Amino acid sequence: MDRLFIFDTTLRDGEQVPGCQLNTIEKIQVAQALEKLGVDVIEAGFPISSPGDFNSVVEISKAVTWPVICALTRAVEKDIDVAAESLKFAKRKRIHTGIGTSPYHIKYKFNATQDEILERAIACVKYAKKYVEDVEFYCEDAGRTDNVYLASVVEAVINAGATVVNIPDTTGYCLPAEYGDKIKFLMENVKNVHKAVISTHCHNDLGMATANTMAGIINGARQTEVTINGIGERAGNTSLEEVVMILKSHKELAIESNVNTPQIYPISRLVSSLMNMPVQPNKAIVGRNAFAHSSGIHQDGVLKNRENYEIIDPTDVGIDTNTIALTARSGRAALKHRLHILGVDLSQERLEHVYEEFLQLADRKKDVNDDDILLLAGKERTESHRIKLEYLQVTSGVGIQSVASLCLNIAGEKFEAAASGNGPVDAAIKALKQIIHRQMTIQEFLIQAIDKGSDDVGKVHMQVEHNGANYYGFSANTDIIAASVEAYIDAINKFVK
Ligand code: KIV
Ligand code: ZN
Repeated sequence: MDRLFIFDTTLRDGEQVPGCQLNTIEKIQVAQALEKLGVDVIEAGFPISSPGDFNSVVEISKAVTWPVICALTRAVEKDIDVAAESLKFAKRKRIHTGIGTSPYHIKYKFNATQDEILERAIACVKYAKKYVEDVEFYCEDAGRTDNVYLASVVEAVINAGATVVNIPDTTGYCLPAEYGDKIKFLMENVKNVHKAVISTHCHNDLGMATANTMAGIINGARQTEVTINGIGERAGNTSLEEVVMILKSHKELAIESNVNTPQIYPISRLVSSLMNMPVQPNKAIVGRNAFAHSSGIHQDGVLKNRENYEIIDPTDVGIDTNTIALTARSGRAALKHRLHILGVDLSQERLEHVYEEFLQLADRKKDVNDDDILLLAGKERTESHRIKLEYLQVTSGVGIQSVASLCLNIAGEKFEAAASGNGPVDAAIKALKQIIHRQMTIQEFLIQAIDKGSDDVGKVHMQVEHNGANYYGFSANTDIIAASVEAYIDAINKFVK
């Protein structure tokens, strides 16, 4: 069996998604779950981009032992200095530096020539080598870079000391055969290629990220850059769970990773919950419907023999179909255990608090599932908010106009208002705007049920525009009108400090 190194970039490329930003504590939680999952490298951030990113790399370096901690830079000395400083506590460290190599980047981004870019590439690798032994170089937009020029860059950076060379399909443009041929070309034409590991990094703009990644691996790449749930800018990155389970299902490829696959589902839930980023129901491996058989023919077939219609045993990815649902009769220990399985370990005090909220939810909802309790555990994120909803009352129905009255607590002071509107949410938001006199418009409003049943918790994602910038709000509640207003308030709290 050949070994494939898993480079997780959920906390860097994944976290760049608008509205998905995590604080340092949440990033540490994800990093520790990634360590438990068995990834080889954690890309912890882009330290020069903000003090928050710098600090996260420092804290993740302290909190994680086994995986290599990687920090991203541009081919700029200052970036590399800052990245090296952020990695000072990492037990195993890597600097990931690079520059655009496609004609688009060379001409329009750098106004340079191929030779100048080649020189900058060599220089940045040599500079990073002064700080760390392990230097990865990325050829940004390699997907649209001519293979002969790309090979010359790869050869030069390996000569300069790069231990890994990353071949990103930055725009998600390549076809699988094209990307596979690119990796094959490098494996066959770069003289010193055996001195480094070639890495895939594919984006999903045309829905081909996983196919391209697999083509790259089959043609010789031995590191793959992926994110949990495939999150990432625009259409996202290659998803970790897909690549890992493809290798596990296709033993004939004789390539394996170190991933502890039963940890896949828990970390998928954790990332989705912390980032407020819903997983599409039909998402491969971790979507709610990935193992749900609804047609009669399929159900009958699965009952006769699971393998008739299932190529993966759900328990292999940590979906325990026998999980005992938590109910109002479950104790603190059961809740604590379930949270632990999901990668969340709370202090005793916080557990007490979450348990109280859990009991209230369990009174309203028969079975409390993993998503529900992850939402409760994450609620403290909103507890420090300046604006809170004290109460909300709405009257709505068919043939009558909706009316809402509410009370907001703004930094300890209470304000009440009432309004009528075109539906209960509209009425409530009009009332709220009587208290908060800001120009703001809802750009996106998504309501999603977590599970099933009329007692289900509804998750609301909202994007609110204010002064030309977009702010993201989220809430979950068994009452979707309340969840909508709370999500709106969550977004407002991002700009009203
Ligand atoms: O997609 C890309 O090219 C990247 C690089 C910065 C590695 O994310
Ligand atoms: Zn990327």
